[in-house]
Amino acid sequence: MKIIREVAELERWASEARSAAKTIGLVPTMGALHEGHLSLVERARKENDAVVVSVFVNPTQFNNPTDLATYPRTEEADFRLLEQAGVDAVFAPTPEEVYSGGKDTHVYDLGPAAEVMEGPRRPGHFQGVAQIVSRLFRWTGADRGYFGEKDFQQIAVIRAMVKSEGIDIEIVACPIKRADDGLALSSRNALLSKEQRAVAPGIYSALNYGRAYSATHSVKATHDTVVERIDALPDCKTEYFEIVDGRTLQPVADWNDSDFIVGCITVQCGPVRLIDNITFRN
Ligand code: PAF
Repeated sequence: MKIIREVAELERWASEARSAAKTIGLVPTMGALHEGHLSLVERARKENDAVVVSVFVNPTQFNNPTDLATYPRTEEADFRLLEQAGVDAVFAPTPEEVYSGGKDTHVYDLGPAAEVMEGPRRPGHFQGVAQIVSRLFRWTGADRGYFGEKDFQQIAVIRAMVKSEGIDIEIVACPIKRADDGLALSSRNALLSKEQRAVAPGIYSALNYGRAYSATHSVKATHDTVVERIDALPDCKTEYFEIVDGRTLQPVADWNDSDFIVGCITVQCGPVRLIDNITFRN
């Protein structure tokens, strides 16, 4: 596995891979890798001739300095896992290397999907995601980019960005990986205390309860029962739970409003914002 630190080297690696008539799969990550990331790598390996994984804690997408400072960094262990997973190249640059041209002042057109849920609550977050992801897409010229559905909104926003920027890449959405107790895998789970980690699976239990409840209750009643259950967990507070059209991410008021309906949730559990979602209709 080739470890690449510089953009020019990444571009060289990608151009050599392409000239050998290879398709390239890209898995963008911020490191602290877990089974969820490895499932993206596995899928990318199946569908492409060469796989590159980026490991980069992108400062421009953090609107909270404490979140950036405490984000887990485990580079050596990450590289070992990626090597074992049969990755061809890992790109692990410094922020100076990625943003060597200075502050990115381009305003990406991310469409209405970026205006809801995480959008207003984390100002600048999706612009930061667009800055790094568009660079990775361009530098690698990847055929496919792999993203986990835990960050359901992020995938919709990246799809909008690819369209507005005219980038030729297929965005592949991969199912959420969960711990045995149901908690969606996330690098930030490492920051939960033992007690918080023990209650956090209650989020997925409440979402599942909500899905069953939705068969006989309104959107509003389903929303309220899920929030009530989660807010009853010690140290947990729902920041938002939005039941939305799975394509536009705009709220639905009635189960008949769309044939694809997803409930997206963010819960503050101790110091960690936990993100999850569940499909109600598809
Ligand atoms: O989902 C993430 O880990 C990040 O937002 C991403 C896509 C790697 C961009 O930094």
